[in-house]
Order: sequence, then structure tokens, then C-alpha cells
Amino acid sequence: MNTLSVWRGIAPSPGFAMLSADISTDVLIIGGGITGVTLAWLLARQGRQVTLLEAHEIGSGTTGNSTGNLYETLSHGLHDVSSRWGKDVARQVVAERRAALQFIQEQAQDAPGAAFRRCPLVLYALADKQQSLVDQEFEALSAAGCAVQRGPVPAALPAAAGPAVILADQAQFQPQAYLVHLAQEAARAGARIHEHSRVLDINARTRIVDTATGAVNAREIVMATHTPKGIRLVHAEMPVYREYAVALPFVDGARDPGPGIFWAKGEEGLSMRTLEQPDGRRFLICVGQEHPPGAHNAKAALMAVEAAAQRHFGDAEPAYRWSAQHYKGADGLPYIGRDASGCLVATGFATDGLTWGTVAARLLAEEVADRSPPFAALCKPTRLSPIKGARTILEEATVTARSLVKDYLTHRQEEKLSSLAPGDSAVVDSEGESCAAWRSPQGELFAVSSVCTHMGCKVHWNSVETSWDCPCHGSRFRPDGTVIEGPALRPLARRHPRSLEP
Ligand SMILES: Cc1cc2nc3c(=O)[nH]c(=O)nc-3n(C[C@H](O)[C@H](O)[C@H](O)COP(=O)(O)OP(=O)(O)OC[C@H]3O[C@@H](n4cnc5c(N)ncnc54)[C@H](O)[C@@H]3O)c2cc1C
Ligand code: FES
Repeated sequence: MNTLSVWRGIAPSPGFAMLSADISTDVLIIGGGITGVTLAWLLARQGRQVTLLEAHEIGSGTTGNSTGNLYETLSHGLHDVSSRWGKDVARQVVAERRAALQFIQEQAQDAPGAAFRRCPLVLYALADKQQSLVDQEFEALSAAGCAVQRGPVPAALPAAAGPAVILADQAQFQPQAYLVHLAQEAARAGARIHEHSRVLDINARTRIVDTATGAVNAREIVMATHTPKGIRLVHAEMPVYREYAVALPFVDGARDPGPGIFWAKGEEGLSMRTLEQPDGRRFLICVGQEHPPGAHNAKAALMAVEAAAQRHFGDAEPAYRWSAQHYKGADGLPYIGRDASGCLVATGFATDGLTWGTVAARLLAEEVADRSPPFAALCKPTRLSPIKGARTILEEATVTARSLVKDYLTHRQEEKLSSLAPGDSAVVDSEGESCAAWRSPQGELFAVSSVCTHMGCKVHWNSVETSWDCPCHGSRFRPDGTVIEGPALRPLARRHPRSLEP
């Protein structure tokens, strides 16, 4: 299945060259999403020597697969931060995010196709039991000084159980078009940007980073990789979730909710918005079905979003289908700053990272210049808040432990891989080793170790994106073992079992 997002389908990558020599730089940024590209732009404009390495293409991580909404609140609720950290911190969160939103608006003005527009955010409940969450959010937003009111939900949307919370003056854009523009501006300001330059090893002590085509020696290393690479304490604190998205083309008579960020909370909860293209094409975008990666049926989740979207907005065939994952901080705040290894990291953004990533880039630019703004102290990656994050840390540790034990006990016994049909996958015991195999529709068999190279959990098949996904901390691999995303640096080992023989 083609899983290119509507954003990446419309705005192709800028085509920066691969790294092709050993180089030295002052600041090395790993990762070309909104965090890395914004930081590269800020540092280059300050006259710093900065290099950015991107494993695939600019925006191919989560940024180019998001929903493109920008807001000063949080998708899991400002009331959550308010109850864990207090009203003053909730106010600081809103102020930082509002400033980041303004920053994006300024940069987006000159970005072709960025389609930035101010709009309201509408939060509402699909069933009575979620209404109290909506009411709580109204209180938290009011206390934080946000321009919030209660009101009805547009008639085009799935019906509400009660009054909605309407937050004025939020925004939405085309995240990939914005990112491509900012990367080109960063390069114009002097940043060296290399695509298809995957970092394979990071030596935080010697400050040397290796790729297959060159090494980089840097004074400062920034991991803007969504989740940091290698084994880090924050991985034990951050649950990972995948979500599914479709973009339906507008057809005559389809219901049109107009500009806005629409969050319907409930069992069939969806995040909904529209996209208008300069060429007149219009799309309705629906995102939902949050599940831990590698621990659910990806096809069923995608079909559920598609069915819900078609039920509400007409049964047009989706023009785009895609999926992406996010990492949630244990105590409701992201992790931004220097970690125990001495590298700078930015992670734990949940589904709010277009704005958090911009906040992070602004904070990290200060940190590179040896300054420490007050908000940076709240986001330190080395903080551990056993009280504020206790439940999340315990849940995450349980998922990891359960995955390790269950998978080692239950995977299938020896089976002839030669009998695997085209399109089928299996995790089997072969010659004493666990092997993850998939036969392509063209008949080619790919066999790799099923043991995740991050910390040894077993990978599971993702039938939508034809990948092996790890339930523990979200590493994902192609059928040939290459890393797609997550904390793993090394590929899954190739296997050549005898059971391949007919
Ligand atoms: C379904 C979904 C919808 C979302 N919608 C929204 C939204 O509407 N609004 C919002 O604010 N947030 C949203 N988010 C969250 C937001 O998209 C992310 O938090 C944000 O894009 C993260 O940006 P980033 O730059 O930190 O990471 P990414 O965009 O993931 O970029 C990291 C980059 O690092 C690269 N990389 C990784 N490893 C290496 C390596 N070894 N070498 C070189 N490069 C490497 C990757 O290829 C990738 O391009 C959504 C998230 C999901 C899952
Ligand atoms: S064990 Fe951590 S991602 Fe697989």
C-alpha cells in the first residue's frame, strides 16, 4: 500500500546531496524534522557553523506525516499539566507555545504552499462520559488566560454530546511545505544539509559521528531524531503510539466543517481538518486509532479511521493513507536539553510536536550559546519526576517486560519458510534462532533476526507499512532489516536459514 502522506505527496523533498567526505563542524544536528531544521535555521542565522544529517529526506519522519495543526494547548489536555505541575507551569506552557506559533507564522509568510491560516480549535465529546474531560479543559484553559469559550460544534462534524470548548486564534499549515522552505533558507544562510546520510554510530565522548559515506567531528551533537538514538533513560519513561490518517478528496455535496482544528473525543475519536490547495483541490483529513506499535493490527486500525471518515464525510476513496508515531513524556512535559551523555536531545512531544519542536529549537539554540532560559529548567531530560510521571513510567516498564517475556515464550516453532506465500510474513524458530520473514508480492523472501537491535525485544509485522515494528520503544525496520525510525541504530541481522530450501 502506498503510505505517502498528503503533505509529502504535495511538497517533494528539496534534494540535498548525501554527505561524501569526513568533515568537522561546530554543531552537528542529526534529524531533518521540524526540530532539527528550525535549529539549523536559527544557528545558521547566528553565523554558527552547523551541519544537519538526515537519514532519509527532509520531513520524512513524523513532521511530514503529522496533521499540521498548531495550538497553544496540548492534545492530552492542559488540565493534565495543570494538575501535575500547577497553574503557573500551565501558563508558562501556553506562553512558550504561543510564542512558537507566532515564530512559525512569521517564517511561513514567505514559504510557498505553507498554507498557514489562523483558525479556532474545537474540542468536544462524542459521548456523555467524555464530557467531563471537555469541561475540565475549559477550566484549565480559562485559568491559563486562553481566549476560550463554550459553543456548538459545526453541523458537518460527528454529533457532540454537549457543548464544545472553542479556543480562538490557533492555526494550521502544510508542515512539509513549511519545512522544505525553512531547510532551503537555512542552507542559504550557510547550514550544510545532507539527506540520505544516516548516522550509524554516535561517540559522545570523542564527539565523532559515523555515516556510511563520511564521519563528522563536532563540538556539539544534537539528536533531533524524535526519540534519541541508543540506550537512554528517557526511553523507559516514554510510551510510544502509532496513529492512522486518511485524506479524502472533497466531492460534490460532501459535508464541509470549514477551517478549524476539530478534536472529537471518544471511542471513535478523530482529529479532523480540511486542506485547500492553491490549484483548487480540497481534502478532508482524519486522524485517529492510537495504538502501541507492533502490538495491534495495523490494517484494521487504518480501515477503522477510513470507515469513520467515510461515514461522516461521504464515501470518497481516500487519496492518501498514512501513519506515524509519537512519544509521550511521563509527566506531561517534553524532554529538551543536555542528557547524561552530553548530547542535546529533544523528545517526548506526544502529538503536539510541531509546536514543541519549534519551542525545542529555540531553547536548544540558547543552550548552544551557553544561555539557559527559565523554561529550559522545566524540560531538562535528566529530570525524573517519580510522582508526576509514576503511572506512565510503570505502564511503559510493563509493556517492555510483557513484550520481552510473552514473545520469547510464544513465537512459532520451526516452519519451512519456503512455503511462505507472497505477501505473507512469519516469525519462526529456525536452526535455534528466531527469524522474521516476509515474502514480497513479487516472490522475493526477506529473512532477518526478529530481535530488535535496541534492547532485544521481539519485532512484530506491520502489514500496512510492510515493516517490522518493536513494541518496546518504537524502533521500526524494513523487511531487509534497515532501520526506519526509533532509537535503534543498527539494522536487524540478515538470516540465511536452511529452511529456505525447498
Ligand atoms: C499521527 C500524528 C499526527 C500529529 N499531528 C500533529 C499536529 O497536528 N500538530 C503538532 O503539533 N504535532 C503533531 N504531531 C507530532 C509532531 O508531528 C511531532 O512531534 C514532530 O513532527 C516531531 O518533530 P521532530 O523534528 O522532533 O521529529 P521528526 O519529524 O520525526 O524528525 C526526526 C528526523 O530524524 C531523522 N533521523 C532519525 N534517525 C536518524 C539517523 N540515525 N541519522 C540521521 N537522521 C535520522 C528521521 O529520518 C527524521 O526525519 C503528530 C504526530 C503524529 C504521530
Ligand atoms: S527494544 Fe527498544 S525499540 Fe526495540
